[in-house]
Order: sequence, then C-alpha cells, then structure tokens
Amino acid sequence: MQRTWKWGALALGVLVLGIAAWPLAIYLRSEAAIRRHYPLATPQIHEQVAKDSAARGAHLVRILGCTDCHGANLKGGQFDGARFYAPSLRRDPATLTDRDFARAVRFGLKGDGTSLWGMPSESYLYMRDADVDAIIAYVRTLPPDYAAPPAQSFDLSVRRAILNGRFVPAGEAVQSTLSPIDLGPRYDGGRYLARTACSQCHGLDLAGSPDGSAPDLSRVEFYSPSDFFQLLHRGKLRDGRIAKDKSHQAGWRFSHFVDYEAFALYNYLYVRSYAVKVTRTPN
Ligand code: HEC
Ligand code: HEC
Repeated sequence: MQRTWKWGALALGVLVLGIAAWPLAIYLRSEAAIRRHYPLATPQIHEQVAKDSAARGAHLVRILGCTDCHGANLKGGQFDGARFYAPSLRRDPATLTDRDFARAVRFGLKGDGTSLWGMPSESYLYMRDADVDAIIAYVRTLPPDYAAPPAQSFDLSVRRAILNGRFVPAGEAVQSTLSPIDLGPRYDGGRYLARTACSQCHGLDLAGSPDGSAPDLSRVEFYSPSDFFQLLHRGKLRDGRIAKDKSHQAGWRFSHFVDYEAFALYNYLYVRSYAVKVTRTPN
C-alpha cells in the first residue's frame, strides 16, 4: 500500500514539474528569438532638410499611422488592446539618433542590432529618403523626451506566437517580397501611397490581411471617386456602414489626405482592381 503511495506521489511530482517547466521552456526559447542580432544597414541621412519638410513630416505621421500607435503627440502609447507599447518618438536625439530613427522605420532594427517587434517597418521599407527626412525634421521640432522608454514586455501568449511564427520580428518582416502590382509611371504616386499607408492592414500586395479582417483593395472597383472620398474622410463604406477600424474613422488618419493624394490613390486602386483580375491565373 505504502509503495503505491510513494509511486503515486512521485508521478504527481513529475507531472507538476513538467507543467511548471512548460512556460519556462516557452520563455527561454522565445527569449533567444527576441535577443537575436541582425546585421545593421547604415541609412543615408540628408542633413540639409528644407524648413517646409517639417510640415510635410507632420502630415506624413498622420496618414502613415505613426500617430495611431505612437500617440497623437508622438510621446508613446499602447495599441492593439494594450498588448503592445510603442515608445515615444521624441526620445533624446543623442540616444535615438537620426540614423537609428531612419533604420527603425525602414529596416525594423534597433541600434544594437536586435529587431523591433510590432513596428510595421515592412510597410515603410520603400519610403522615399525625403519622406523619412521630413518625419525626422518634424519630430526634431517637438520638445524632446528625456525619460527612458519602458522596456518592451511580452506575455506568454505573445511568446507562443513568436515561437509558432505568427508574430514575426520587424527585421524579418521587411524581407517579404510581396508588393502592390506595378502599373507604370502614370499610377506610381497612388501605388506609393497605398504601399506606405494601406498595406499595414490590407497586406503588402493589397490582397487583404491574412486573417481576412481587412479586404482585398480590389473592392475599390465598386467605389465611385465620391464614394471613395466618403470612405477616406468619413469612414463610410459603400454599403453605408461605418468602417470598424479606427484608422478609417472621421477625424482620424485618412481624413488628413489632401485631394491630390486621394485622387492618386483612387486612380491606382481602381485600375489595379482590373489589372489583378487579368494577372490572376484561373484555378
Ligand atoms: C502598428 C503600430 C505602429 C505603427 C503604425 C508605427 N509604429 Fe513605430 N513602433 C511600434 C512599436 C511597437 C515599436 C517598438 C518596438 C520594440 O521596441 O520592439 C516601434 C518603434 C519605432 C521606432 C524605434 C524607437 C526606439 O526607441 O527604438 C521608431 C523610430 C518608430 N517606431 C517610428 C515610427 C514611424 C516614423 C512611424 C510611421 C511612419 C511608425 N513608427 C509607425 C509600433 C508602430
Ligand atoms: C489599420 C488598419 C487599416 C488601414 C491602415 C487601412 N484599412 Fe482599409 N479597412 C480596414 C478594415 C478592418 C476594413 C474592413 C472594415 C469593416 O468591414 O468595417 C477596411 C475596409 C476598407 C475598404 C472597404 C472595402 C469594402 O468592402 O467596401 C476600403 C476601400 C479600404 N479599406 C481602403 C483603404 C485604403 C485606401 C487604405 C489606405 C489609404 C486603407 N484602407 C488602410 C483596415 C485598414
């Protein structure tokens, strides 16, 4: 009888240990992914930025969604149901240098060679030098923040997403080769805006988000130019509903598009909706 008890207790002990070790294993394996170092690129910084480029920078941080995550005044903020924290972009220029800033935006890497997590650098990879310079010029007109940003913390569910590949580090996401279809110079301005402002949710090729929440942008086929303006400025979908996503809502991100940008976007997306039909192979 006593023997059975002993074995039972031992088996239970092993089981409890096993259960306790499981989160530890997830923690240690994801920690290796989080601490991984990547080779650093050295972005070009153009010191002589014109004064009016700061005004363009102020416009860009809104339409490109930097303020969605980093906060209306870029002092940092939580997003995605407070699961993630985007740090202040007004950090001391001596610690977050122009070069670090530009590298983070386009290549998703920190100055120490580790990756950023949750920063959609893959959407900004092809941003023009002049636009990155303009954003930096704007940020530098704001009073700097000398407080150190809170350390990024990852809970167990985020760590599991890292291990099973559902949460990809920004420094690796930028290696994706997906791109919106190229329709030539006539539509290049709209394609640029779609790539930098819309791909974060609608996918790098604009064919929709992997989870299906943001549709393929060939839906623009059913939008007249005025429907499209209603969507950008008021968040009104063609079926009369108000888009669920905050970025689409009135007074927020896309209501800041100026008319020529909205037209360029529309023209590109409208023509694209036909072009993708032709290039898609029937199955
Ligand atoms: C979907 C949310 C999101 C959007 C949109 C976004 N960021 Fe970020 N960004 C983050 C997060 C999260 C981090 C921190 C990642 C980390 O520390 O691992 C970050 C980090 C950064 C960093 C590095 C800061 C540092 O202290 O190392 C810079 C610079 C930056 N973002 C600039 C921008 C700019 C400029 C834009 C717009 C063009 C932008 N971000 C848009 C979420 C976002
Ligand atoms: C932050 C995420 C996000 C960004 C960025 C974003 N969208 Fe959306 N968009 C959505 C979601 C989510 C929906 C689905 C809305 C719904 O059904 O409530 C949507 C819906 C749409 C629709 C409606 C399609 C239909 O079925 O009628 C169009 C058109 C659209 N977006 C265009 C754009 C354009 C153009 C941009 C870039 C300027 C953009 N979106 C950027 C999240 C986003």
